[in-house]
Amino acid sequence: MDATSFAASFKSRVTDVFNDAAPRYDRGVEFFTPMGARLVELVAPRAGGRVLDIGCGRGACLVPAATAVGAAGRVVGIDIAPAMIDEARRETERLGLGNVELMVMDAEDDPLFAPGSFDYVIGSYSIIFLPDSFAALTRFGKLLASGGKLAFTSPVFSYDTFPFLPEPFGQIITDEFLQHIEEEWQPHRIVERYYSWLVDREMLSATLGAAGFDNVVILDEPVQMVSGSGHDWVAWSRTQGMRLLWNNLPEQPRRELEKSIITELDSRRTADGLITVETPVRYVLADVASHRRTGTGKTR
Ligand SMILES: C[S@@+](CC[C@H](N)C(=O)[O-])C[C@H]1O[C@@H](n2cnc3c(N)ncnc32)[C@H](O)[C@@H]1O
Repeated sequence: MDATSFAASFKSRVTDVFNDAAPRYDRGVEFFTPMGARLVELVAPRAGGRVLDIGCGRGACLVPAATAVGAAGRVVGIDIAPAMIDEARRETERLGLGNVELMVMDAEDDPLFAPGSFDYVIGSYSIIFLPDSFAALTRFGKLLASGGKLAFTSPVFSYDTFPFLPEPFGQIITDEFLQHIEEEWQPHRIVERYYSWLVDREMLSATLGAAGFDNVVILDEPVQMVSGSGHDWVAWSRTQGMRLLWNNLPEQPRRELEKSIITELDSRRTADGLITVETPVRYVLADVASHRRTGTGKTR
């Protein structure tokens, strides 16, 4: 498949996965929720600030960002999956957050908004779903007003282990299972195709520099995922992007993989009866570079 057709196919599968996952997204076990809160804590949006949340999902960043900027601020959440926007809308209405606007939108649309419309562009575990992330990041820089900040999270990618998860998953999700997945959809192929710029810290800084940012800060910090059983963890893994892997496996290997993960995780239960999976997360923060500042938006 050529790059354009693969990107279209990737985007359509990703949208389907998150539409299906939305009602249970990050429930039972929590990973995205604490990660989103931590990202917003690192960004520390000021009261009255204008925030764009790319791939906002159910609101892991959106909700803490809306709280931080307060009634004088504004948070716009966009997501390609309508079911995610429905969930985020339910959540923000439940919390009575009147400073949030939600839109079903592809973050690769151009233009997304007027230049200089935001003080912060944030995106937790969402930039990784953009096939042309460099072009998207370059456009995000233009959406930022003078002094604006970009902040996002990603997995700590690696070429030599299963790319999205920490051990013990690299040892469990072996080639025996991966052989059932089409060559182009193999996790390591996706990393090579889309995430090589995120694997290496220097390349990440250089990419952001070329996209119009400076003062890049990269912080690798784990999120502790706590689950009551291996079964709960597997159920949770279907509520997020790993659903792509489950969807791509035929029934027999899928059942075997589920069993192997459940057995391994259950064997790691500690005295309190809980299982903790420590998952490294890469937090990336950067300022829009002075020569790229639009100057059209006033920073409050
Ligand atoms: C792993 S979830 C993260 C959601 C949220 N940021 C969080 O931390 O919980 C990735 C989100 O990105 C969205 N997404 C994927 N591709 C997108 C695109 N091209 N434009 C906008 N959103 C996209 C998905 O629908 C999904 O909601």
